[in-house]
Amino acid sequence: MAFVFVSRFLTLVLLLLLSFHSQHCLAKCHVDDETGLLAFKSGITQDPSGMLSSWKSGTECCSAWFGVSCSSGYGKRVTSISLYGQLDNPKSFLSGTISPSLSKIRYLTDISLTNLRNITGTFPTFLYNLPDLSIVYIENNKLSGPLPVDIGKLFRLFAFGVSGNRFTGSIPSSISQLTKLSQLKLDGNLFTGQIPDGIREMKNLTYLNLEKNQFSGKIPDFFTSLTDLRILSLGYNKLTGELPPTLSALAPLLRFLEISHNVLTGKIPDYLSNFQQLDTLDLSSNQLTGTVPTSFKNLTKIFNLNLRRNRLVDPFPELNVRGIESLDLSYNKFNLGTIPKWVETSPIIYSLKLSGCGLKFRLEDFKPKQTYFYDFIELSDNQISGSPVGLLNQTTLLKGFWASGNQLRFNMSNLIIPKSLKNLVLARNQVLGKVPQSISGLKKVDLSHNHLCGQLPVTKFPAEAFLGNDCLCGSPLPPCKK
Ligand SMILES: *[C@@H]1O[C@H](CO)[C@@H](O)[C@H](O)[C@H]1NC(C)=O
Ligand SMILES: *[C@@H]1O[C@H](CO)[C@@H](O)[C@H](O)[C@H]1NC(C)=O
Ligand SMILES: *[C@@H]1O[C@H](CO)[C@@H](O)[C@H](O)[C@H]1NC(C)=O
Ligand SMILES: *[C@@H]1O[C@H](CO)[C@@H](O)[C@H](O)[C@H]1NC(C)=O
Ligand SMILES: *[C@@H]1O[C@H](CO)[C@@H](O)[C@H](O)[C@H]1NC(C)=O
Repeated sequence: MAFVFVSRFLTLVLLLLLSFHSQHCLAKCHVDDETGLLAFKSGITQDPSGMLSSWKSGTECCSAWFGVSCSSGYGKRVTSISLYGQLDNPKSFLSGTISPSLSKIRYLTDISLTNLRNITGTFPTFLYNLPDLSIVYIENNKLSGPLPVDIGKLFRLFAFGVSGNRFTGSIPSSISQLTKLSQLKLDGNLFTGQIPDGIREMKNLTYLNLEKNQFSGKIPDFFTSLTDLRILSLGYNKLTGELPPTLSALAPLLRFLEISHNVLTGKIPDYLSNFQQLDTLDLSSNQLTGTVPTSFKNLTKIFNLNLRRNRLVDPFPELNVRGIESLDLSYNKFNLGTIPKWVETSPIIYSLKLSGCGLKFRLEDFKPKQTYFYDFIELSDNQISGSPVGLLNQTTLLKGFWASGNQLRFNMSNLIIPKSLKNLVLARNQVLGKVPQSISGLKKVDLSHNHLCGQLPVTKFPAEAFLGNDCLCGSPLPPCKK
């Protein structure tokens, strides 16, 4: 009897709890949150994919509104807005501006408006009014104008990303107040001036991306206070001078270093060989001189090495990597002769680019340990002879083969073109035979200045792709003689 009573009592308690819980869940949006979110929606003028179609007044915003989430704790308030456009869907964008009424969402901790592509306006300074805000990503939109001088008011932020907008001007010095930042992403804008020295105050920074702007001057020598950095991207700017000495302070943790497409001079510093975690080093398209330090053989984890288009000279050290994945040494002053053994034996290489590297060998003598993963092989402007037929027929994923300006001599009729291939560039060689129909599936072809002959297959390629051969004819070249 007592047992039945207790059990009924418990059932009742359970039912009460359940009904309380579900009522609580059914509670509508807090009025301020709803007002803020609907104001954001009304600032949007185009939403062709219906990204915000679930945002309807009087419904439960915490679970039913796309991209909105709430704290489970006190009072169910909206804490996060996260809207992402899908880059592969041309309809997945939003036009309009960011309504300042979003500041009504008092408990907002993070806001991500990413790849929405067509959001315009200036920097949303109403974000200053959100005391709990710690993450801001407004990336790949069309915001413009300078960052406000009082950007330091966002000092509570942990992550700040405005990549891929149209922001201009120099970075305000008050950015030095963002001392809690772990991530700072300003890449892909139109920022000018020097890299702000105040970044040195961001001692917890793990990810710094300033690439694809117009920053000029020297790279500040401030890295002794940034020793938590894992990823550093400064590429595609107008930076001058040498790699600064304190960069060496990043040796224990840095994995990714990219400073390509600048105007850096001087030598590649020896200290880089102490970067035990470094898997990617890209210093391409600068004006670096001298040799690559012999100590680079200590970089046992380097998977991606790009030194393309500098003024580096021999000898290139023999690296001691388990496997290089991608290597580009093109257009320096190297005379490598043959493809280095440590490259030929790599079990994981997918991209090999050694154009203008003084290579002189028969292509049949290049016997890579694996060919399966190859996506790109670029060996233009060397003195390579022989035939690529045997190499290309071992690849299954190859997307591009560039070998113009060599001494390749083979019958084009024998070339098996991998199904994956998009680019085939063999200009200025001694290729013989006819042009096969199988090239018509490619995106880019250049067979100019060879010894090809006969009627061209029907393709969409321009005449330049075939000029300067012995006796090619048919569209887009003049018709064949009857
Ligand atoms: C972007 O927004 C502008 C103005 O709102 C509009 O005229 C334009 O069509 C939009 N662009 C795209 C790609 O939809
Ligand atoms: C940096 O990170 C450490 C450890 O996570 C933390 O204790 C410290 O408060 C952070 N510094 C700042 C300025 O946020
Ligand atoms: C390279 O590593 C070896 C041992 O692994 C060490 O003796 C040598 O000092 C290192 N060289 C440089 C330049 O770091
Ligand atoms: C690949 O080419 C080589 C050299 O021409 C030839 O011996 C071999 O049979 C070819 N393999 C395949 C699968 O076509
Ligand atoms: C190229 O190969 C085809 C087929 O094997 C052959 O008919 C043709 O004569 C060869 N052309 C040259 C120039 O060797």
